[in-house]
Amino acid sequence: MVTSDSLLTRNPAFVVEDLTHAFKLPDGGAMTVLQNISLTVRENEFFTVVGPSGCGKSTLLNVAAGLVDASGGKIRLLHENRDLIQTDIGYITQDSNLFPWLTAIENVMVPLEIRGVSKKERISRAEEWLAHVGLTGFENHYPRQLSGGMQKRCSIARTLVFEPKVLLMDEPFGALDAITKSALQKTVTDLWERLRTTVVFITHDLTEAIALSDRVAVMTGRPGAVHALVDIEIPRPRDVYNVTDLPEFKSIRRDLWQLLENDIAIRETAK
Ligand SMILES: Nc1ncnc2c1ncn2[C@@H]1O[C@H](COP(=O)(O)OP(=O)(O)OP(=O)(O)O)[C@@H](O)[C@H]1O
Ligand SMILES: [Mg+2]
Repeated sequence: MVTSDSLLTRNPAFVVEDLTHAFKLPDGGAMTVLQNISLTVRENEFFTVVGPSGCGKSTLLNVAAGLVDASGGKIRLLHENRDLIQTDIGYITQDSNLFPWLTAIENVMVPLEIRGVSKKERISRAEEWLAHVGLTGFENHYPRQLSGGMQKRCSIARTLVFEPKVLLMDEPFGALDAITKSALQKTVTDLWERLRTTVVFITHDLTEAIALSDRVAVMTGRPGAVHALVDIEIPRPRDVYNVTDLPEFKSIRRDLWQLLENDIAIRETAK
């Protein structure tokens, strides 16, 4: 396993120290989901976690987002070596979670309202972000009037509008069709190449992991532990539509697949 020098010189942004988590079971027992996980994601890194279903990936992000208290160890989210507060963290879950009673633009304005941004600025920043995700013209549509992919784009705009220092994304494109998924992968790559927010991304899709990431952590089946860390040495800017044609893509995919072979519950579309 090789970690590039440029990465090591950057500040830590997402530090997991000996993290363990067990959920209590109704019969009084406990199920260990995460076991002794330690890893460091650096500022501006696009870091992806892959692993079999049920190995604890969402639990890891829920602990990071402060939604679940870990049984042992800790996760720290930092920016310029200072601990982040919750309002600095963006979390995009698998569901879009838009407020159904608000229009697209009102949804995108919510995080700005919470942060006390003036109405004039809220409107202009929300319009700008809806444009970034290709939703100009749909500002006044309610979520039910948007397709699944459009709802997802709206939820990405709603999260990025407040410029989070660390962005957590849990299988954000899992439920989408292949064309919408590719288009959103391109949107996210372009935005990330512009903003360089630290991203911790979860996916089942190895192609997506390779196309988007600087590094990929491969987790074991439950209780989830980090099995391997793999550098994705594909130059940027990347053409996410054609990344699968690169010879390095094929060899990285083979390596990742071998690492996952023992925990074959994971599925992905064959390429
Ligand atoms: N709130 C909870 N209470 C009890 N058990 C839970 C809870 N949340 C998750 N689990 C259990 O913890 C394990 C890990 O769940 P988690 O959602 O973190 O897995 P995952 O790796 O994200 O899976 P997937 O890839 O299917 O999304 C599962 O066995 C799940 O049943
Ligand atoms: Mg999950």
